[in-house]
Amino acid sequence: MYPVFQKFNTALFVLFLGVGSCESAEEKTSQQEMAANNVPSSAGKPDGMTLFRQHCVICHGSDGNLGLNGAKHLSESVLPLEERINIITNGKNLMTPFRSQLNPEEIQAVAAYTLTLKK
Ligand code: HEC
Repeated sequence: MYPVFQKFNTALFVLFLGVGSCESAEEKTSQQEMAANNVPSSAGKPDGMTLFRQHCVICHGSDGNLGLNGAKHLSESVLPLEERINIITNGKNLMTPFRSQLNPEEIQAVAAYTLTLKK
């Protein structure tokens, strides 16, 4: 009886180790991904258009006028750059804040890109 129990225990322990190492591997990849996402594209300067396609088109559409979730038509927005940076950083109503996803430089770049959508 006892050896069987011991074997069972070892198996559990191995399983536990396996799960543990799997988890930390996953954590590492997602950290690496996050780091990769934070690396500004193309020689230091974050690319506003790329960031917009990655983070904003789901609600605003590629031309800024999709209007999902009540998103404002960006081609009609009259907000100055500073206000856009503020909304992108802190969110507004149904728009999610981006301060934990984008660094200030990236927010500035994507805000500047939205200005180019203006008609
Ligand atoms: C979850 C959907 C969603 C996502 C994702 C999203 N937005 Fe918005 N956005 C909204 C909504 C909704 C509003 C309107 C907020 C309000 O005034 O009630 C808005 C408003 C704005 C405004 C202000 C327009 C104005 O004239 O009032 C700007 C600028 C803007 N978004 C830019 C962005 C940028 C840049 C991104 C990507 C980094 C982004 N949004 C991602 C939903 C979203």
